[in-house]
Amino acid sequence: MVRSVLFVCLGNICRSPLAEGVFRAVADRRGLGDRFEVDSAGTGGWHAGEPPHRRSIAVAARHGIDISGQRARQLVAADHERFDLILGLDETNVADIRARAPSGGRAEVALYRAHAEGVAEGVPDPYYGTERDYEAVFEIVRRASQALIDRLTAKG
Ligand code: 4NP
Repeated sequence: MVRSVLFVCLGNICRSPLAEGVFRAVADRRGLGDRFEVDSAGTGGWHAGEPPHRRSIAVAARHGIDISGQRARQLVAADHERFDLILGLDETNVADIRARAPSGGRAEVALYRAHAEGVAEGVPDPYYGTERDYEAVFEIVRRASQALIDRLTAKG
């Protein structure tokens, strides 16, 4: 049974902090907050230690979710032992995660939307975008989070 999930994008300041925060919020609202351990990381380390992008914090806040306390970190080899499931937000993230996976690591690695809702598409990088792009990412992440929790809690 999947209990721990790591969400991974490039910088860990735009997309994966939203994936982490929205997943946690949806799980909490369903009374499943104790069921999962979730975290996020970036394949790159340039933003390590920073809070999420101000537009990611803002879009989450508009939807009643506080992600301002999260801090960016880089993906490390030990994550493949610590987590059951590592989800890359786009195809490049998945390729980078796999390329650096230690041999024998136990984590399953998959594309976020494909694993959550059967949609073989990446979440677009909003880093150089506008508020509207962050709102679009939020909507994708909200749907994917609900579908992912449905899937991870399904019986059978
Ligand atoms: P993220 O967005 O991968 O969704 O966190 C980006 C954040 C930072 C950079 C690129 C994408 N960057 O080049 O610093």
